[in-house]
Amino acid sequence: MKRKIENFWRKYFLSLDENFYEIEPSEIMPEKVFIASGHIKNFVDTIVICKKCKADFRADHLVEEKTKESAEHLTDKQLTKKIRELKIRCPKCGGELGGVNYLNLMFPLKIGSNDKGYLRPETAQGCYVAFKRMFGATREKLPLGLAIIGKAFRNEISPRQGTYRMREFTQAELQIFFDPDKINECESFEEVENYKLKVKFSDQKRVDEIPCKKLLYKLPKFYVYYLAKVQQFYLDLLKIKPENFRFRELSKDERAFYNKYHFDVELFTPRFDNFKEIGGVHYRTDYDLKRHEKISGENLHITIDNKKFIPHVLELSFGIDRNFYSLLELSFSNKILKLNPKVAPFTIGIFPLVNRDNLYEKGDELYKELKKEFDCFFDSSGSIGRRYARADEIGTLYCITIDYKTLEDNTVTIRDRDSTKQVRIKISELGDIVEKLVDMEITFEDIGKIVKTRKKKEGYRI
Ligand code: GLY
Repeated sequence: MKRKIENFWRKYFLSLDENFYEIEPSEIMPEKVFIASGHIKNFVDTIVICKKCKADFRADHLVEEKTKESAEHLTDKQLTKKIRELKIRCPKCGGELGGVNYLNLMFPLKIGSNDKGYLRPETAQGCYVAFKRMFGATREKLPLGLAIIGKAFRNEISPRQGTYRMREFTQAELQIFFDPDKINECESFEEVENYKLKVKFSDQKRVDEIPCKKLLYKLPKFYVYYLAKVQQFYLDLLKIKPENFRFRELSKDERAFYNKYHFDVELFTPRFDNFKEIGGVHYRTDYDLKRHEKISGENLHITIDNKKFIPHVLELSFGIDRNFYSLLELSFSNKILKLNPKVAPFTIGIFPLVNRDNLYEKGDELYKELKKEFDCFFDSSGSIGRRYARADEIGTLYCITIDYKTLEDNTVTIRDRDSTKQVRIKISELGDIVEKLVDMEITFEDIGKIVKTRKKKEGYRI
């Protein structure tokens, strides 16, 4: 399922422009890269240690838990003061807490016998150090998009909340390099000008729905266009309900140190009863390339139409594990995991109605055939109603049942997860039909007459 989410992301975001590519640079990078990027100096969390039991905690989280207000922007000194004022003690043993310090979140490494390096804390830096080569290897055109889907590593003080905060996690990030003089140009903007974005500005509590063209007084066209493309990915393709999606503008204090504009992509996550960040749209300006040029001594200017300049970067950044988690929560209701067909873990479940009279063998034969093309499983035990229920719970899109009629005319019933309706179709057409259904080229109603099914008292259709 995780791979499917990655592939879905890959297909959508890389097809937004013909000059977008995926690359796979290294996860281990030399220290100089992070001196340049600013991570050595700025990529820190505030940490406080219990004087008695020596347990460590994120200082801002302890304050937030007490005040229910964001404390991420407070300095070490301000947090130390708050902890004293609020009389916060060690959550583990009740002991006195020490003063607040900073902890760098990168994992250090020794490269060879002497050189210092780090595991990358974001995939983005791989694109910046590869930019000049990639620009030359493609057609020396802007915008140029470089995407990386891969692991990033952060020494989180308190990893928690399932896949939400982990020390190793998968990012999918797209860095779009563009000419800053063209930040208010965007060929395809007309497509989205009346499309309404769901935005919570940093100085407001409510979420506004604003047509893209009305945001241009505040944000550049190029940036607004990609906000729209991100929202469409969630609402139109992943079918997230609009009330569960929003962009949240980060205030100056909250923004990452490299960003000029920073909107988090947030999904409502029932377990936390709140919106949670699952991605971000960041205007990083020329901050990264300029710094890499300075520290590496490599000329990162390019020349287009006799103009020499350093491109600016718009970054679309997503945490795959967080998306995975939120999608699971938002798709599960009434014991059915209603995941989008493209990311559901199983496309087909195959069930012989009973385990006798050659139905098992017929089902097994079909399973072995379909397995070559689709993610499918075979289940021959328990009542058919319970097998449907189990399949629904893990998001299986279509259940195929082999019955006595199958032996006579090579037809099977196909059952739709979301409507529980069934249609009888020829085995020879099955693969084609499922492919078209998954690609949403046809609907379940298009494939044939709905067959009558008996209702069992536990509520399953059979
Ligand atoms: N590359 C942006 C981030 O890791 O948040």
